[in-house]
Amino acid sequence: MYLLIPAAGVGKRMGSNRNKLFLEVHSKSIIAWTLLAAEAASSIRWIGIISQPSDWPDFKNIIADLPLTKPVEFIIGGATRQESVYNGLQALPPEAEQVLIHDGARCLATPNLLNACAAAIRHCSGLIAAIPVKDTIKVVDDSGIIQSTPDRKYLWAAQTPQGFNVQLLKQCHAEGIRQGWEVTDDAALFEKCGIEVRIVEGEETNLKVTTPQDLAIAEFILSHRERVRG
Ligand code: CTP
Ligand code: MG
Repeated sequence: MYLLIPAAGVGKRMGSNRNKLFLEVHSKSIIAWTLLAAEAASSIRWIGIISQPSDWPDFKNIIADLPLTKPVEFIIGGATRQESVYNGLQALPPEAEQVLIHDGARCLATPNLLNACAAAIRHCSGLIAAIPVKDTIKVVDDSGIIQSTPDRKYLWAAQTPQGFNVQLLKQCHAEGIRQGWEVTDDAALFEKCGIEVRIVEGEETNLKVTTPQDLAIAEFILSHRERVRG
């Protein structure tokens, strides 16, 4: 399976002065944990890191210190995640029929989850890891007034990995450019094009490290995993 890792963000909500993926959690950078999970996932055979060229020297230094056996390609990132993934799709080898896309910032996803998504995408056109939401979710208008309360049994929190048929995802990205759609994940492009996207049960610990608090939670989870392993 081919894996694209969007890693070209700036981490505004983290309040850091550089790409948050270089921040350390449990003695390793966020991107190092993500890459180690990809290395440990037996289904993954090729990794593309989509990132800003100004960050490449730092990424290369990190990779040099990791026991990676899989090829890692560098792909130029875009101004938005959507543009970054678009660039990633153009850089896939021509023989790639399916692709997994997994945010660099989701450094706690297990190799098991990557493998489960890689296996499942062989039998459908599009899928995402997701978990049922625990909170009651409100739809609120611009003036802060609640408009509705969707039935929680239909609400799932989207995660990555997300898996797709490459040709279909390329077509959906092209349609997104034509129509001016702005989306925060790739599944949304499939949905807008009317193509089915399945759910694979995600992991509660598979959080996207977005704020300083997430960094503290990630630290806790990684140290807990280390203690459990002994
Ligand atoms: N990403 C990307 N290209 C962009 C923006 C984001 O590849 N132009 C990546 C990020 O590096 C991250 C993933 O998409 O791995 C999810 O994005 P997010 O958590 O929003 O990261 P940032 O955009 O860096 O953070 P923020 O939105 O707080 O600035
Ligand atoms: Mg962002």
